[in-house]
Amino acid sequence: MTQDLFGELSPELIREHLMEGAVVLRQFALADAEWLLNDIQRVTTQAPFRHMKTPGGHAMSAAMSCCGDQGWVTDTRGYRYQSEDPTSGQPWPAMPESFRNLAGKAAVAAGFEGFEPDACLINRYEPGAKMGLHQDKDEQDFSQPIVSVSLGLPQVFQFGGLKRNERPVRVPLAHGDVVVWGGPARLRYHGVLTLKAGDHPLTGVCRYNLTFRKAR
Ligand code: SIN
Ligand code: FE2
Repeated sequence: MTQDLFGELSPELIREHLMEGAVVLRQFALADAEWLLNDIQRVTTQAPFRHMKTPGGHAMSAAMSCCGDQGWVTDTRGYRYQSEDPTSGQPWPAMPESFRNLAGKAAVAAGFEGFEPDACLINRYEPGAKMGLHQDKDEQDFSQPIVSVSLGLPQVFQFGGLKRNERPVRVPLAHGDVVVWGGPARLRYHGVLTLKAGDHPLTGVCRYNLTFRKAR
């Protein structure tokens, strides 16, 4: 803990450098976790979690929802951003203030000023769910970073190279951890290993991941 200018105790920022342009901010979202989880509940009451299909026709093991002006979707027609939820035909729920604030603060802490995400993908993993190595490349603006927030059960993140065959590093992510990657790391392959069974006091038997992007 450090004493700040106003005499209050504030938790020390734990920055773990991964590679150039990529950093893990340990427990960065911890103090906001309950707000974020409440807002996940609100957003997914409007735009319920669903298992989207890959272009190859397989259901993704992570359940997904979105909020913000743009939402990421996949179906047999491919991957893309769109402003409506395909399930309801309605616009995606607005991005909650708690989400926007946290994403901006995390980007600054990682060295990226002025991040204004217009899309947040919400992933929900239950034991057995995973996400294979992929690049986030459906956005129009690669000058902006990706901010990725972990809540609930721990899961191992894999952070690889700019080519799929480069061996990834494994980074265990816990409740409240935030990963930010941009600049030379923006198009690195990444994913998460299969979620192990567990029970978290705030989320029960799942992990949530919020992934903030500037899509347009
Ligand atoms: C993603 O790349 O969309 C999700 C990564 C994660 O769940 O940490
Ligand atoms: Fe991703």
